[in-house]
Amino acid sequence: MQMVQSAAELAALVDPQKRLGKRIGFVPTMGALHQGHASLVTRAIEEADFVVVSIFVNPLQFGEGEDFDKYPRTLGVDARLLSDLGVDVLFAPSVTDVYPKDQQLKKLSAGKLGEVFEGAARPGHFDGMLTVVNRLFDLVDPDVVFFGAKDAQQVALVRRMLSEQIRSGERSPIQLVECETVRDDEGLALSSRNRYLASEQVEVARSLSAALRKASQFESREAALKAGREALNPEARLDYLELVDADSFEVLESAKGRKARLIIAAYVGETRLIDNLVIDRTS
Ligand code: PAJ
Repeated sequence: MQMVQSAAELAALVDPQKRLGKRIGFVPTMGALHQGHASLVTRAIEEADFVVVSIFVNPLQFGEGEDFDKYPRTLGVDARLLSDLGVDVLFAPSVTDVYPKDQQLKKLSAGKLGEVFEGAARPGHFDGMLTVVNRLFDLVDPDVVFFGAKDAQQVALVRRMLSEQIRSGERSPIQLVECETVRDDEGLALSSRNRYLASEQVEVARSLSAALRKASQFESREAALKAGREALNPEARLDYLELVDADSFEVLESAKGRKARLIIAAYVGETRLIDNLVIDRTS
């Protein structure tokens, strides 16, 4: 595995592969890697000929008072994991490599879908996320990209951005592969932020997925949300639990006949955690 920091070094490795007709796979991350990230990387290695992973803690997607400064940075350990998995290039740029001061930055707006749920709790987060993802796609020039279903609203926004850019001819086609959420043995969705949890908080954190599972047994929104709230550990501070359309995130009164999604966000101590579960009742 080669580790590079600048856009020029990255292009020098990727461009020759593209010229050989290789399919370039790309997994963007913020590091502090865990088995959830590893599952995306493994899938990328299966589906692409040449795999680039980025590690970049993007300041634009953190709000004031959020955890940008304390976000775990574990580059050495991450690099070893990626090398063992068989990644070709680790792109670990600095802020000025991604956002050069002498270049006009194309800022993206996530629109209405960027203002609800995670977007409501974290104003500007999705604009910053789309801006960096767009920039990274420009730098890496991938054929196929891999995102985790754990961050469902993020996937929906990136999918929409890509389809608009491809339809308008602004960007060559990029395939988006959505990978299933990886969980621990008791259902807790793996997250880099889980390392903020004290051991006694892990149990509380696990109740988010328990709430989703319980809620998924009911078709109506009202019954599902009631059951979900009851299953949540009272020490978790619920931000939202909602039944929505799996792709548009429009609130549903019932999951009947729909591909629906239960979404949850809660604070365990100071740590904000999210999770979601698709309930496909189309057949
Ligand atoms: P990060 O939180 O590091 O996540 C990188 C990718 O790993 C995302 O696609 C995320 O959905 C996926 N992922 C995280 N936990 C997962 C789990 N338990 N199972 C499966 N996939 C999981 O998401 C970001 O970084 C950033 O917003 C980024 C897209 C890199 C832009 O800065």
